[in-house]
Amino acid sequence: ITIYVPRDAVALGLGANRVARAIFAGAERRGLDVTIVRTGSRGMLWLEPMVEVATPEGRIAYGPVTPGDVDGLLDAGLVNGGEHALRLGKPEEMTYLARQQRLTFHRCGVIDPVSVEDYRAHSGYNGLDAALKLDAAGIVAQVRDSGLRGRGGAGFPAGIKWNTVMLAQSEQKYVVCNADEGDSGTFADRMMMEGDPFNLIEGMTIAGIATGATRGYIYLRSEYPQAFATLKEAIVNARAAGYLGENVAGSGKAFHLEVRLGAGAYICGEETSLLESLEGRRGIVRAKPPIPALKGFLGQPTLVNNVMTFTAVPYILEHGAKAYADYGMGRSLGTLAIQLAGNIKHGGLIEFAFGITLREIIEDFGGGTQSGRPVRAVQVGGPLGAYFPDHLLDTPLDYEAMAAKKGLVGHGGIVVFDDTVDMAKQARFAFEFCAVESCGKCTPCRIGATRGVETMDKVIAGIRPTENLAVVADLCDVMTDGSLCAMGGLTPMPVMSAITHFPEDFQQRGPMSV
Ligand code: NAI
Ligand code: SF4
Repeated sequence: ITIYVPRDAVALGLGANRVARAIFAGAERRGLDVTIVRTGSRGMLWLEPMVEVATPEGRIAYGPVTPGDVDGLLDAGLVNGGEHALRLGKPEEMTYLARQQRLTFHRCGVIDPVSVEDYRAHSGYNGLDAALKLDAAGIVAQVRDSGLRGRGGAGFPAGIKWNTVMLAQSEQKYVVCNADEGDSGTFADRMMMEGDPFNLIEGMTIAGIATGATRGYIYLRSEYPQAFATLKEAIVNARAAGYLGENVAGSGKAFHLEVRLGAGAYICGEETSLLESLEGRRGIVRAKPPIPALKGFLGQPTLVNNVMTFTAVPYILEHGAKAYADYGMGRSLGTLAIQLAGNIKHGGLIEFAFGITLREIIEDFGGGTQSGRPVRAVQVGGPLGAYFPDHLLDTPLDYEAMAAKKGLVGHGGIVVFDDTVDMAKQARFAFEFCAVESCGKCTPCRIGATRGVETMDKVIAGIRPTENLAVVADLCDVMTDGSLCAMGGLTPMPVMSAITHFPEDFQQRGPMSV
């Protein structure tokens, strides 16, 4: 009897280890021969810990399970998929999952994340096998033709970046994975690294072989200890199985991979300050050019991509560029890992082709707010993304369509607020976040963010709101035009979208108005 219990950080936070122990003890008391496999999460976070049992008809899920539920579940015949109030049926038939287009996340929550055998049994390393039949230019052409764009947020065409690194001449090149997932409301990278780390390892290995880089680093945020442990174990196992090292899968090509931990700075998600940090220095943004693709880690050509960019690659190589490009719209092709969070009933991971609207995500998948109150504002693309009001919720998730509405796709994080939100406080928060996280290298961001907090405090206190909002708009212009990187350059986006779409929250706030 095989029972699957997630070991993803969310499930662990909700008691998955205690549930696993209770199942083990309960089964032993009943003389049942049970094997517990620890998986990643399927991404339906309101159902965690979600336990699954293998039956002749397929897996049957139960959730959310607490340790106190376990005896009742075992008495109801959990091991045979028996009836119980927590029984959810087959996971792949649950609407939330069945409606998705899981090209990248299809193994997440299904396999044992650190078992190479399990990975192979679920089409793992088929992408590498296909890549090894091509030359470097052939692999890069597949990535280019798939239309894959950088999933860190900027949406730069991955094929062009890979091509730049491939053509760069150097003794040593590097592949670096940006796993410093710092945006509020985002968790796709973490879920992938905890639930299907070989997918990332495979994507980076293909990238190394395509670009001629023999060394790779995963720069992981220190707030992800579970992902750290899983990645380290997976790398050891991949090496033991011959998929990493001097002779990758018997190809004669070398690729070595290590994980490096960050130290808690949001700005280290910006690629050049990430490289500074990786080299052992304080994470301060470097001026570009030179771009990292030509002069990156230790001054050598370096391919820096996000976890979601690398993990799209095995699918593309296995199924061909066209299969991937068939999903999506316009110039945003393939699928996006949408992370639905905030005040929402059914938060979680939704992998879907670009082009789905925000309203479909929030209503059809999310089921509305957790509080039951109306949705008032939705922030898309992390703390530097715009706040959208109801009338913009029919905007499709597509890089160009979001930009046309002065918004961002970013890393695909969506945070929902109900009608109790105070948008002036959210605008203040954007400045405050920037003031705390600024690397300090350039004046518009370092000073501008602090002045922004002070000015928003005056607006909130009702002190000359009209004049002070004009100061805020001026500050935002300077930050947009004069900042060295996206931190200072994009902070105006949440601020100005809040002022533009929710003006009523900024006027006549208090008795001190003059
Ligand atoms: P960028 O547009 O400067 O660069 C995008 C990427 O393309 C970089 O890797 C750059 O090195 C590369 N590139 C540019 N020109 C190239 C060329 N000719 N050849 C090869 N490579 C080239 O954007 P940046 O500053 O890297 O990222 C900004 C974005 O980051 C924002 O739009 C925002 O959405 C996102 N962001 C993401 C966060 C997260 O937690 N994932 C947090 C904050 C911002
Ligand atoms: Fe540093 Fe801010 Fe300037 Fe970026 S915009 S380089 S975070 S001071």
